[in-house]
Amino acid sequence: MAAASPSDLAERVRHALGMPEDHPRLDELNAWAARWHNTLDIHPSRGIWSQLDDTARSELIDAISVPESFFWRYAAQLQRVVSRVHQYTGAGKVRIWSACCAGGEEPYTLAIMLAEAGLLEKAELVATDINARKLAQARIGRFSERAVRPLPAPSTCRWFDWQGGLHPWQIHDRLREAIRFEKLDLLAFAHGQVPPPLQAPHVVLCRNALIYFDKHSQRRIVEAFYRTSDAQAWLLLGHSERLPLTQTQWQLHTASDHAWYAKKTASSPEPPRPSTRLPEPARTDRVVPRPSVSPETHSIRQVRAVHATKKGTETSLTESLKQARSASEPHAIIQACRRALYLDPDCAEAHWLMIQAAHASGQIPLRDRHRRLLQHILASLPERTMINMETPVSVADLRRALDTLEGNTP
Ligand SMILES: C[S@@+](CC[C@H](N)C(=O)[O-])C[C@H]1O[C@@H](n2cnc3c(N)ncnc32)[C@H](O)[C@@H]1O
Repeated sequence: MAAASPSDLAERVRHALGMPEDHPRLDELNAWAARWHNTLDIHPSRGIWSQLDDTARSELIDAISVPESFFWRYAAQLQRVVSRVHQYTGAGKVRIWSACCAGGEEPYTLAIMLAEAGLLEKAELVATDINARKLAQARIGRFSERAVRPLPAPSTCRWFDWQGGLHPWQIHDRLREAIRFEKLDLLAFAHGQVPPPLQAPHVVLCRNALIYFDKHSQRRIVEAFYRTSDAQAWLLLGHSERLPLTQTQWQLHTASDHAWYAKKTASSPEPPRPSTRLPEPARTDRVVPRPSVSPETHSIRQVRAVHATKKGTETSLTESLKQARSASEPHAIIQACRRALYLDPDCAEAHWLMIQAAHASGQIPLRDRHRRLLQHILASLPERTMINMETPVSVADLRRALDTLEGNTP
């Protein structure tokens, strides 16, 4: 049989995979077809996918999938899932499926949020993707500086070990063991060829993947989510992704900075208006003051602050900082900084005082760890931003001070 021309082969694959005409990886698809068209023996009347051998198929997936992701992506939306787990009173665990997880950044972010809210054991987490290479990375749990950068610094400190190299951050086993990673092709799932990886999920995350499918495939995938999920399931799409208005099975809910869909049933109530809000954590008499924080990390800190209050260890951030500033013993400074960082993981002053105290007492690994975390925070701020310290200091000055300390290792 004559070999398919590269353009025929590329076009057949594009149709079979439901790729839209403006898919960002069409050049890569054409290059793949140019490499493979002579080798593959493609029968024109049979499905293309089943005729690809394993190597051709995995090369194709590597070429056309867009596995970019990072930690803390649209964190407010994931916090919404945390609040659902928090409120869940049904039997068993809350079943959560991250349906296109890339290298695991999304499900691990959720696992971190759940663990920090003391809810990890209440959820069953399954993450799937078509890209076997990314799944292998996800199972290992090693991440680049860039992927981890948006995480609040103390979460990085708490859940990762720095091991150097291109992917320096190794996530802790507790989180690796909390997520089951499996290979799954969403199109095969949509066509009923494979079941969902867990029974009737309560939450399905399919963020930033539908855009890479044509309209027909998008509809089939979303219908399959509907068919196979729990009666009260939620579906979360990417920040700029919306289901078409003709799609009436899922009800859109919005909050100020994020959205999610809830499965509609005959008895579904109309969505609350104005937009729903995250449940407030239990009120305590003492309000824990903290500097302004991004809305994305606010609620997790509320949970943490309430937790601190419950444990009877509440000390306000301001008080902890005051103690850290006035203490003379490095040990006392470090303790006070730890309390401050528990209340506000991104408190630059607490990191700075910690670095100096660790430096003075020769605790180099501790100094290095907080230096990295502080650099991580400063990297996201413009040079001239003033950092709120006992005496406010600019980002540029604090960077210089860090460098000076660096050149002065005891
Ligand atoms: C841009 S990433 C999104 C990652 C993550 N959900 C996020 O929002 O950061 C898109 C992912 O969809 C996966 N993908 C593409 N086609 C797929 C398919 N047919 N089945 C399963 N996953 C697919 C890609 O391999 C890629 O990892």
